This record gives sequence, C-alpha cells and structure tokens, in this order.
Amino acid sequence: MYLDNASTTWPKPPEVAQAVSNFISGLCPNPGRGSCGPGTIAGRTILQCRMALARLFSCEDPLRVCLTPGVTWALNTVILGLVKPGDHIVTGSMEHNSVMRPIQFLARRGVEFTVVRCDANGRLAPDDFRDAFRPNTALAVINHASNVNGAVQPVADVGALCRDRGVPLLVDVAQSAGVIPISSAALNADMIAFTGHKALFGPMATGGILFSRCFDPQRVEPLAHGGTGSHSEVEFQPDFLPDRFEPGTPNGPGIAGLLAGLEFVQRVGIDAIRETETRLASILAAGLREVPGAEVFHPEEGPVTAAVSFRIRGMENSVIAGVLADEYGICCRHGLQCAPCAHRTLGTFPGGLVRLSPGYFNTEDEIRTALDAVRSAQRRYG
Ligand SMILES: Cc1ncc(COP(=O)(O)O)c(C=O)c1O
Repeated sequence: MYLDNASTTWPKPPEVAQAVSNFISGLCPNPGRGSCGPGTIAGRTILQCRMALARLFSCEDPLRVCLTPGVTWALNTVILGLVKPGDHIVTGSMEHNSVMRPIQFLARRGVEFTVVRCDANGRLAPDDFRDAFRPNTALAVINHASNVNGAVQPVADVGALCRDRGVPLLVDVAQSAGVIPISSAALNADMIAFTGHKALFGPMATGGILFSRCFDPQRVEPLAHGGTGSHSEVEFQPDFLPDRFEPGTPNGPGIAGLLAGLEFVQRVGIDAIRETETRLASILAAGLREVPGAEVFHPEEGPVTAAVSFRIRGMENSVIAGVLADEYGICCRHGLQCAPCAHRTLGTFPGGLVRLSPGYFNTEDEIRTALDAVRSAQRRYG
C-alpha cells in the first residue's frame, strides 16, 4: 500500500507510462535540432505540455513556462540567478531544503536572509512577513503548501505585501500543483516553481518555472548555458523565453509523460482530486488522533493538503515505519522529510515525524488498514 504521495505520486495513470514509451519508440528527432523541423512529435509534445501547464496556472502565454529537470532546479535557477551579494532574501520557516540550501549557499557569499517564523500549525502571519523586509530585499520565497504537515500558506496576502514593496515573490508549488487551483495572478506571485512527478502525475525529473507577466525574466541569470537549437550563430545564451532557461536537449520522454499526467488531471478535475485527498487525509488524521500517545501534525483549521504527520510518545519513528512496511507493506516516509526548518518550527527536530500522505488512487479501506497498523504498532511497542 502506497501512502507516500507527498514524495512522489504512485501509481501514475497508465497513460503516463504509455506516453513515455510512445515517445521513445516513435520517431523522435531532437526537437529544434534535426532536419525534420519543429513540427515533429517531439517538438509538438513539448509545446503541448507547455500549453497544458500554462492552462493549469492560468497563464496566457505558454512561452513563459520554462521546463527544467524538476522543482529543485527551478528554485535554484531563480534564487541563484536573481540574488546578488549584498542583497537580502525573506523566506518562511516551513521551507524544503530545495529553498533553504540555495539560500544558505548564497549566505556564504555575502547574501543576508531572514526566516519568518510560522505559527504552531506551520502558517505564516503576513504581518510578520512585512516586518522582515529591508531596503535591500531582492527576493521573497515561500512554499504554497508544506510537505511535512500539509499547511497551505496565505500566499496571496504575502504576495500583496511583496507587490507593495516591489519585492519579487517566488512560490514553490511542489505540494499544491494538481490539488489546488493555482493562478500566478491570484497568488500575486512573480514566479512559480513546480514539479511534475507529484500531483501532476508525471515522471520524475520534470518540472519548471512559470514567469508571470509582471516579472521581467531578464533579471534572472540562467543557471546553465548551452545549445537550444535557436540562434546557433551566437555564443551567448538566448535572452528570450523559454530558451533562456532551457539549455541542452530536453527530457522528451519525461515531458511526454508529464503531458499525459496533466491531461489526466484536467480530465478528472482538480476539485475531484482534492475532494478525494482531503476526505482520506481527514479520516487518517482523525483516526491517528485517537491512538494513545499520538501527536498529529496536520492543521485542523484552514486549508491543507493531504500530508499527515505524527509521532507516538515513547516510540521511535523508525519502529512505527518498520511495522508499517514489514508487517503491512505500507510505504510511508519518516524522519525530517528534507525540511529540518519545518521540523524546528513544529518542535519535532531532530527526531522528525512519520508522514502518511494519501493520494488520488488510495481508498478509505486502505486508510483504515493503515490506522489498524499504527494501532497495532502502538499496542506492541508503545
Ligand atoms: C515543498 C517541496 N519543495 C521542493 C521539493 C523538491 O522536489 P524535487 O526533489 O522533486 O526537486 C519537494 C519534494 O518533496 C517539496 O515537497
């Protein structure tokens, strides 16, 4: 039983594997580089994927969607490409290491940063965010939803403050894309970094950056430079989108799979996916709260995604995860979930938590079995 969808969704809809296979076995010249021209399967697939992503994020211009090898790459591109020594960054205290590590890297090179502490539910207070701005603040970066406890941030309010101060806002939507409707305009976001392999049901190492109309992408230096199939006579990276941030041969099979995943999300509908996940997560959280000694980290108020974390007094998280895996065949994730900062906020550092994250394909029966497994582990080892 797979309950680790916050790491990566599984299973993928069958058409995702089919699309990857079709892409590899069909006639797929290198897009933009062969003599077959841009009208080939590869070129068309990539354009269709860009268009589907633009639709998903309510962006009118698909060329403002740049495809990268995932959200980590997307976040690094903006953080390292926009912020210069002497600048200041504001972020929240529930961030993933894919935000914290590039910031800490820059801190060694003369960049200052402020981490705005979230409350006990892992939510930011926009006023605290406002207080963190300085005259040299060059970037604000926050996630839309936490991968530890599912807390959804008040991004639109934070974005409005950023707009007032002229500070670009980068939003990490790794946990929300595909389960919460997202529009960069409604979020007041300048850039959105997304991943393909979670709730968009694509293959791993897919994702990208969406640059909103309000933000000039020329302000971001590319992280990598190379061939694009365009303007080959020039030995500098093209400055237009998407080529500026897409050097090298793209991950065609991955992008084909992502397109199939996006079509699945569109067909089922984000509302239906969210309804399923929210229902399963609330059954799970309510059941866990009744386990003796359990402490559950999943806000009871306000918007949440389906990441539900917990620990049980007197038990090692590894013992709980071991019983789930070895005796019940349940996949979960225990530890710090690549977000030590979030665990410091929740008071669960360094031990971390056990995270169960249902997805669209899980059932209520599976959630009941997972609860039986946790109760059984607590009875025997708690
Ligand atoms: C909120 C958040 N940001 C970033 C990432 C990094 O994703 P990836 O490893 O796919 O680049 C994750 C993955 O769990 C995440 O949950």
